[in-house]
Amino acid sequence: MKKIRKLLEKKNKSKIICLTAYSKNIAEVIDKFTDLILVGDSLGSVLYNYNSTRKVTLNMMIEHTKSVRKGVSKSLLVVDMPYNTYRTRNEALKNCRKVIKETNCDAIKLEGGIKIVPIIKHLVQKKIPVMGHLGILPQSVKGKFKFKGKKPKERDQMIKDAKAIEQAGVFSFVLEGVEKTLSKIITKNSKIPTIGIGASENCDGQILVTDDLIGLTKSKIKFVKEFGNIRKTIRDAVKKYRREVKSLKFPSKKYLY
Ligand code: KIV
Repeated sequence: MKKIRKLLEKKNKSKIICLTAYSKNIAEVIDKFTDLILVGDSLGSVLYNYNSTRKVTLNMMIEHTKSVRKGVSKSLLVVDMPYNTYRTRNEALKNCRKVIKETNCDAIKLEGGIKIVPIIKHLVQKKIPVMGHLGILPQSVKGKFKFKGKKPKERDQMIKDAKAIEQAGVFSFVLEGVEKTLSKIITKNSKIPTIGIGASENCDGQILVTDDLIGLTKSKIKFVKEFGNIRKTIRDAVKKYRREVKSLKFPSKKYLY
């Protein structure tokens, strides 16, 4: 709860830094620099090469979060509830409680607007901290993702969705693939922080998939910026290892028992 309060206090004061992690080692490296770490169901495509996040299971999310938890001490740890795990209030409560109990995460994230308001209200009433997710909703998309907020009807709906989930009790929400002036309106109208991904600088914070940011994936998504080239670092290290094994330089005396 203290970590959530700290996140809320950043609204209109300083940008909120969020990233994904799927394992302990990455979580440990990024934790010092992030306010929030999300175990995103994007792990389905990033790690398992699935063509949809719909194939991600509750157990996959639990096992990855257990690993991430071991690397996180400072940031707020949020877990995506996968597809078909929060269709009814009872199903959502049972599954969220299971995730929290088994992983010791701080909060869970659900995709959707007005339609999932009864679920959000129920979870919040039962003291489960909920983060929302609007804009592109990967769990609801079959096929290509489409940027949101160009059509007036779509804009009106998203403004209503944002208001509705805030009133239902989410402590923050992600805006994914949202037109910049719409992000501005929603962020201005909300008392809680908005976290953008492909939704412009108008959001209160930003999130990226860490594997994209470090250049581990070969992402072609427009909103992804590669801030590093970890593939090259890995390649260089492996080439060096290979060379030294072949030339009998490794293992040298120093590495022997
Ligand atoms: O699954 C995920 O990684 C996400 C972020 C991209 C926001 O939902």
